[in-house]
Amino acid sequence: MLAPGWPAVLMDGPVTLRPYHRSDARVWADVRRANEQWLARWEPTPPGTWHELNAPSAFRYVLRELRRAGRSGEAMPFAVCYAGDLVGQLSVGNIVRRAFCSGYAGYWVDQRVAGRGIIPTALALVVDHAFRSGGLHRIEVNIRPENMPSRRVVEKLGFREEAYHPRYLHIDGGWRDHIGYAITAEDVADEGGLLARWHRVASR
Ligand SMILES: CC(C)(COP(=O)(O)OP(=O)(O)OC[C@H]1O[C@@H](n2cnc3c(N)ncnc32)[C@H](O)[C@@H]1OP(=O)(O)O)[C@@H](O)C(=O)NCCC(=O)NCCS
Repeated sequence: MLAPGWPAVLMDGPVTLRPYHRSDARVWADVRRANEQWLARWEPTPPGTWHELNAPSAFRYVLRELRRAGRSGEAMPFAVCYAGDLVGQLSVGNIVRRAFCSGYAGYWVDQRVAGRGIIPTALALVVDHAFRSGGLHRIEVNIRPENMPSRRVVEKLGFREEAYHPRYLHIDGGWRDHIGYAITAEDVADEGGLLARWHRVASR
């Protein structure tokens, strides 16, 4: 049986979210390798060099794990494309159903296309999809206090700041504090969804 809401393709203007394909290996490696300085300080400490872990040959293992997690319903791992090019990733992971029906969103985008609203658009698409088709009720995002660009993403979308988690995740070589943000289905129900809200915010 397929997991609720997976696989899926989501679109808004030039932003498309889709499952990864085997043929993404070369572009994925090029983008990840070009963005080591931009991404490493916000990601889990890798058990090897950045270059090795983001080689085209490593993508096979990444893809296998993402597909397994998607099929089992533990995650919705989307490749983020902009004007047809692979430029980032947005995943809902750690999905727990039953009485919780919640998951954690994580994301990154190529520095060369940062600042164009790609990730707010992608996150709004995924939140609406998770609530409408994925059977989820709540999406959380946990962000290091010093990561102002990422905090701007959730603040522009109107996520609620709910918690301060000391030494929460092992990121870039140490246990780092995180601010917990969340949004629930009720928060956007009266507005026609989070993408509709984002369009209103972005057009102001
Ligand atoms: C956080 C991130 C995903 C935001 O994605 P994005 O598509 O650029 O989002 P936005 O276009 O809404 O920009 C968000 C903020 O980034 C900053 N920004 C804008 N242009 C920028 C640029 N060229 N370079 C760096 N930061 C920029 C601004 O503060 C902007 O907020 P504003 O709209 O109030 O001006 C992206 O900065 C990124 O990939 N960072 C590295 C990985 C990361 O931090 N992941 C999240 C971990 S919680």
